[in-house]
Amino acid sequence: MTIQPTNDIAELFEQRCIEPSCSATYSIGERIYVCPRCGGLLDIEANDSYAPAADTLKSLWLNRKTSLAVSDISGVWRFRELLPFSAKIIPVSLREGNTPLYEAPRSAAYCAINSLKLKHQGANPTGSFKDTGMTVAVTQAVKLGARLVACASTGNTAASLAAYAARANLACAIMVPTGQISHAKLAQALDYGAKVLEIEGNFDSCMREIRILSDDGSLYLVNSINPFRIEGQKTVAFELAEQLNWQVPDHLVVPGGNLGNSSALGKGFRELLALRLIDHMPRISVVQAIGAAPFASYFNEDRSATFQDEVNPKTLASAIKIGAPVSWKKALRAVDETGGKVLTVTEQEIANAKAIIGRDGVGCEPASATTVAGIRKLHADGFIKSDETVVALLTGNVLKDTDYVNKYHSDNLVAEGVGAISGSYRNPPIKVAGGRDELRDVLTQLSN
Ligand code: F0G
Repeated sequence: MTIQPTNDIAELFEQRCIEPSCSATYSIGERIYVCPRCGGLLDIEANDSYAPAADTLKSLWLNRKTSLAVSDISGVWRFRELLPFSAKIIPVSLREGNTPLYEAPRSAAYCAINSLKLKHQGANPTGSFKDTGMTVAVTQAVKLGARLVACASTGNTAASLAAYAARANLACAIMVPTGQISHAKLAQALDYGAKVLEIEGNFDSCMREIRILSDDGSLYLVNSINPFRIEGQKTVAFELAEQLNWQVPDHLVVPGGNLGNSSALGKGFRELLALRLIDHMPRISVVQAIGAAPFASYFNEDRSATFQDEVNPKTLASAIKIGAPVSWKKALRAVDETGGKVLTVTEQEIANAKAIIGRDGVGCEPASATTVAGIRKLHADGFIKSDETVVALLTGNVLKDTDYVNKYHSDNLVAEGVGAISGSYRNPPIKVAGGRDELRDVLTQLSN
């Protein structure tokens, strides 16, 4: 059973430059990534007359959970009244979204707060939050008649795009920094049939290069500078609010790399507020690894100065090893309007937080663990109170970077420019050299 939305809404949306001095608008059918007039980032906005009733939306979205149609099962397309597509669109979907919200008592205790929820975007089809944006960006690529889709990536965007491009039968090119992305993510992209172009340099050089190459229209760029990616990722805010019975948390804490995710969550909650589905926004805070923290530096230092990229970003959390985040202005808007913070955490703090999240039986990749490390700090600084409701957004699955995990647990993790990271909560395998008696001894100790 497909539950049809009330009307066809595609024509109500437009692309709008976020620069207040420009605000130029463009049709959603235009293949642009930034404002052709001033170079500003673009938002996709519904026109002011579009105001579906909050109660209708809530029940429509909930009812779709019982439907068998792909566009209703998808945790992104289920919210399609707020997406810039015709009701008749056939999405390129892998049943993304619908990710769990876990109670995490050990992580909460580690942060010294009463309770902590983990929204696990690593439970998406390719194991990261990128899928919620990619389903929309690749659907738009098909709609525009693109033949080749492409991205620069630290690994997860690559894996996600490769999968969705394969589903859509589109050619796919991915640009990654040689030797700097996890083996698991590279393996995914290869298996899904993408052409992986490895270049010398870092993510930022890949990003610069692919943006220039996309100028002549020969490829469709689906990094988060593409506003359709943000449209998909904003639905995580809708899903989270629904899971909390439309009571928003006091704090939502996310990792920051290229800053598309924090931008998208800000947009999602802003839209829910405008439609009165919620009565306030959560404070959105962004956590960066200390060696790759241009946004934190800008936010906490001289805000009137020009944004300074980090020329040589360093972190073992390779997903967020980014020095020139393209969406910083949108992320800044999200943090400022919600009263959040931007902070850094050390390599040691990330590693320990990751091990603790694992003890909650959840598991995530290093970049995701910046959240719990950040929450611990924000509580110690008095910004998060023990009795407040806090959600950490985990962005990637634990299997995304098992090299890191095994090194941590065998106390062999070394970070560039930092040195040895202590496996403070390590859990190394136990070598049992003897026979059954020795095994029994070990097992007896475990049960005591
Ligand atoms: N966490 C993970 C696991 C990521 O893969 C990324 C970004 C982030 C956090 C940061 O999110 O960029 O929206 O601020 N990964 C990109 C990639 C850059 O290419 O996979 P962001």
